Amino acid sequence: MEERLLNAINLTEDKDTEYSLRPQKISEYIGQQKVKDKLEIFVEAAKKRKEALDHVLFYGPPGLGKTTLANIIAKEMGGNLKITSGPAIERAGDLAAILTSLSPYDVLFIDEIHRLNRSVEEILYPAMEDFALDIVIGKGASAKSIRLDLPKFTLIGATTRVGLLTSPLRDRFGVMCPMEFYKDEELKEIIVRSASILNIEIEDEAGYEVARRSRGTPRIANRLLKRVRDYSEVKGNGIINIDSAVKALELLEVDKEGFDRIDNKIIEAIVDNFNGGPVGLETLAYFIGEEFDTLDDVYEPYLLQKGFIIRTPRGRVATDKAYKHLNRTIAKMDMKQCTVFDDDEI
Ligand code: ADE
Repeated sequence: MEERLLNAINLTEDKDTEYSLRPQKISEYIGQQKVKDKLEIFVEAAKKRKEALDHVLFYGPPGLGKTTLANIIAKEMGGNLKITSGPAIERAGDLAAILTSLSPYDVLFIDEIHRLNRSVEEILYPAMEDFALDIVIGKGASAKSIRLDLPKFTLIGATTRVGLLTSPLRDRFGVMCPMEFYKDEELKEIIVRSASILNIEIEDEAGYEVARRSRGTPRIANRLLKRVRDYSEVKGNGIINIDSAVKALELLEVDKEGFDRIDNKIIEAIVDNFNGGPVGLETLAYFIGEEFDTLDDVYEPYLLQKGFIIRTPRGRVATDKAYKHLNRTIAKMDMKQCTVFDDDEI
């Protein structure tokens, strides 16, 4: 698969630096204030009672720090962190093996938890609720079920598609944490922190410019920081200033809104080919030749948040902002005729 600069999904090149840039304590973690407030209280309360923290679900677009927070929680609780993902657990036995290897206060992190298969998910219900593992021995009439006790652990689930979780699974999480896009000021702070860890010199205005174009996503901010550093080392004196930052970002084809080619293709398609919309996301994905899942997880949430498109019952509609961005005459459309959906409704 082609690795795109603005893709919030973890790329191979992020792996080496992501670990060193990752905050280790909640006090080092910038942004997501509401999530931090919740976690600080629940972690402290669980520690006081000497209990495991209740199960936590992080949901929202990729790259916003779900794994980082799981790491921090495990450290705070004094347990180990085991990381796996929905598609990696193929059979019920795989999950049983993971669960029986846990110690008290350990944190089991399941990324893409919406992709667990049904038989695996059913093992999770008693594990989450009663810290128990039900095992069936034998077959047919002589089959027997035995129950094994599990240590008190915390399950942390992460998903970009909370709507795809079954309700029995969703209902078993005691702490729900919606992850939001970061504000430009928060991303600027993250960039300054990362620059200092990586010994990169970056001027204030340049840091803000990189932040503004990072799609509200720390993973992208850190990636752009490294590429802008490369540009400044080759074309300048190594210090990132506003001039080298803007030139590097232009070279990288990241525009002033933080959009790449695909974002622009999406809004262009809605405006030029579908008369401003409404158009369904599947039709759009097919039309521009991109995967539906990437549009759904990565592109649409950012375009919605920036107010370039809206969701209606009949599909996505381009807003005035999109027309202005593309230098097109604004279509006369009565928006009052469109019922706009809330995020939760779709
Ligand atoms: N690096 C990546 N995400 C971060 C965050 N939320 N706070 C501080 N540094 C980070």
